[in-house]
Amino acid sequence: MHELQQSEHVLFRPMQKADVERVAELERICFRTPWSRAALAGELKNDVAHYLVGECDGRVIAYAGMWVLFDEAHITNVAVDPAFRRRGLGRRLMLCMMRTARLFGAATMTLEVRETNLGAQALYAGLGFLREGRRKGYYTDTGEDAFLLWNHDIALTLAHADDSITV
Ligand SMILES: CC(C)(COP(=O)(O)OP(=O)(O)OC[C@H]1O[C@@H](n2cnc3c(N)ncnc32)[C@H](O)[C@@H]1OP(=O)(O)O)[C@@H](O)C(=O)NCCC(=O)NCCS
Repeated sequence: MHELQQSEHVLFRPMQKADVERVAELERICFRTPWSRAALAGELKNDVAHYLVGECDGRVIAYAGMWVLFDEAHITNVAVDPAFRRRGLGRRLMLCMMRTARLFGAATMTLEVRETNLGAQALYAGLGFLREGRRKGYYTDTGEDAFLLWNHDIALTLAHADDSITV
């Protein structure tokens, strides 16, 4: 497993066309029903979509996407390269997403998470998300339910976060 050294700087920045291939690769590594390259490339032309990637030594090791609709940010995907997990990157990435969402006028953030995905649920719980619903059989590959999570005040979460963020 790769250790993130103190000197290794992770830069969070908007996803670009040149990142799509690598993000699609991470989708295949991280998800059972990955988004295709074409779907990800389409997001670059979608006015409401905002994607960030985390880059270390010129390599994309994390990414997340959302649609900002009025004052709501809907997270579409979040993933960290397995070799770089449990080093705080997912949390930092989500805080960057919240900051970006604020810039585009969002006050709240919502997402779906698999009921068995306890790691992601722990991440979101630490970022002020509350479980407010369940979508029965939402994931067609396993028939699993999705928990519907909401953070109703992302400005408050950002105010309480002491992370240093590079966007
Ligand atoms: C979920 C995911 C994005 C987390 O990324 P990460 O960089 O490992 O998360 P962080 O290191 O920032 O974790 C922050 C906190 O979240 C919780 N957490 C994260 N992963 C966890 C796990 N596997 N088990 C338990 N708690 C976990 C912990 O509280 C952690 O703090 P700690 O390490 O100090 O205990 C990553 O595991 C991933 O890409 N998973 C596959 C894709 C996925 O499930 N995406 C979410 C879809 S809704």
